[in-house]
Amino acid sequence: MVSDDALRQDRELEQALNEGLLTLLDRFDHDYLGRRLRHQVDHIARFFGAGRPGLHLEELELLFSWVERGMHLLGLAEHAEKNVLELEVSFNRFNLPGLPPAFEGLGVLHLSDLHLDCPISHGKSLSAAIGERVRDLDFDLCVLTGDFRFATRGDYLPAMRELSQLMPFLRCPLGVFGVLGNHDFIEQVPLLEHLGVTMLVNESRAIERGGDTIHLVGVDDPHFYHTDDLRRACVDLPDDAFAIGLVHSPELAGQAARMQRLALYLCGHTHGGQLCLPGGRALYLNARCPRRLCAGRWRVGDLAGYTSRGTGSSGMPARFNCPPEVALHRIYGLQKNNRALDRTLLSGDNWVDSLVGTNATVRLPCHFHLSSQQENWLLPPGSPWAQRTRWSLEAHPPRSI
Ligand SMILES: [Fe+2]
Repeated sequence: MVSDDALRQDRELEQALNEGLLTLLDRFDHDYLGRRLRHQVDHIARFFGAGRPGLHLEELELLFSWVERGMHLLGLAEHAEKNVLELEVSFNRFNLPGLPPAFEGLGVLHLSDLHLDCPISHGKSLSAAIGERVRDLDFDLCVLTGDFRFATRGDYLPAMRELSQLMPFLRCPLGVFGVLGNHDFIEQVPLLEHLGVTMLVNESRAIERGGDTIHLVGVDDPHFYHTDDLRRACVDLPDDAFAIGLVHSPELAGQAARMQRLALYLCGHTHGGQLCLPGGRALYLNARCPRRLCAGRWRVGDLAGYTSRGTGSSGMPARFNCPPEVALHRIYGLQKNNRALDRTLLSGDNWVDSLVGTNATVRLPCHFHLSSQQENWLLPPGSPWAQRTRWSLEAHPPRSI
């Protein structure tokens, strides 16, 4: 039985879609729009082997169904599906040159590969699980680096309905921004914007705070649709801009590093492998770039980057040895007075006295909640909270970023 609210929401989404489709013609260059739409039609028409080079998991639905059947036969399916909702929060500190003072300590909530209509047969919905995890986090800005839909074709309204449930948890002072992934169609742009996500499709947007400005640069999918245009996206940036790049996959890292326009590159797509061997070794990453760029933080030349392991899951509702991720990036400049914040990081059961000038990632398991004050890593050593908790800490060498 469909509720009146759900029916009303569907009508609103359909109206937003109908009105928004025409705005795409005004907003985007027709050459770009034609290429995007043509690739989408090709993809549907020739689902197995859409004409783009390389192996694309997006085209291997049959393979996924075999793997899923295999997991059922081995009795692993239920455990694998449960893992899809076991979201891990990672706190990542970046010290980046050129950050304007008013943005010191900027908190960026980074969700990627939401695949919100993922068919989860029991337990809560994915949007409810994510909402629960982000509810207590303190962030100024939220970025969604593509792949809102579970499948690469078919109806996108179910994912949009789920997103409408999640959006109240993502509201933040500087807004919610997104880019398209290889599971997304350009037609989703008006729907996403109707729900409150500002989409950047080879575009940039200035964000102001306290008289200072930073820029977000968003690029279309470089993995499957190849309709990315980083140069065009950067065209409006002032020469001295501090810019954060949003791209679905890490495959543009080399180009972005050469261009030297971005201070930070945030992406996802790889899901960290999703089905990994014990120890987290990915069997397949579905990206044309070095493995070291496919999960967590990385650096190419002067460019700092972070690849999310994905907040949702695709192909099948299953994960092994690769928890889904909610990432909170805390961004600082390179001023010396930031160093005091590095004093009280915890590794396992041991305090790290000094990580002066370093960058660090702290990972927390899904059952643990951290307040914004704790997240700033200023906990007194030996607190009961600290004793009970095991952290996973990756410290990065001084001045690595
Ligand atoms: Fe994805």
